[in-house]
Amino acid sequence: MFNISRKINLPSFESPVLRAKQFDDKIRAYVAENPRASVVSLTAGLDATFYRVDNGSIHWYDLDLPPAIEVREQLLPEPDRVTYIAKSLLDPSWCDDIEHTEEGIFIMAGGVLPFFEESEIKKFFSMLADNFPRSEIVFDAPLKLDDDFGAWFDMYPKEQQDEMRAVWCEALKDWWENAPQDQRDEVYDIITTLKTSVKPKGKE
Ligand SMILES: C[S@@+](CC[C@H](N)C(=O)[O-])C[C@H]1O[C@@H](n2cnc3c(N)ncnc32)[C@H](O)[C@@H]1O
Repeated sequence: MFNISRKINLPSFESPVLRAKQFDDKIRAYVAENPRASVVSLTAGLDATFYRVDNGSIHWYDLDLPPAIEVREQLLPEPDRVTYIAKSLLDPSWCDDIEHTEEGIFIMAGGVLPFFEESEIKKFFSMLADNFPRSEIVFDAPLKLDDDFGAWFDMYPKEQQDEMRAVWCEALKDWWENAPQDQRDEVYDIITTLKTSVKPKGKE
């Protein structure tokens, strides 16, 4: 299976990179206003945001489940001003592990909230509101995993949908015209297995 994003450059395939850039921008803006703030990275995994946004004076917390933190400790040992927390983000006791709360708190939660139940997410936000009432948070909230793929598209205004559709069609057309036959055949096979019967022109 070839990677179609390499061929037609669709923006949605680049989403992890775009998300990291957006998160970095938000954190940098907060840290510029609050240079000695605490930043909490929830579900850190092997996330390296700290190394990109550190201003030399923030306090940083990377939280993840114990097995993930164990691996992190081996591969990325705790730098100065960074604390690792081996707990679930749903365990309210991690809030007590955050020190230096008086000069601002910024929380990031990337790539995780979609995996929780709605009731858990509500509890999670109540917990944040109770413990860090003046904090700011950045998180991503893609469509629910069982939603129809097209649902996110409807969130955009009509004119923007038209514009996005036009860019997509142009990119797809451009790729289709220049792709080697074996790749066209592969795409054609995929398309014919889709529920919606949309066939590219020129192949019957
Ligand atoms: C898809 S990765 C996202 C990693 C990183 N935040 C990013 O954006 O690249 C999901 C991470 O969430 C962690 N995770 C899953 N459930 C968790 C929980 N209840 N509490 C804390 N971390 C959790 C996993 O261990 C994993 O590192």
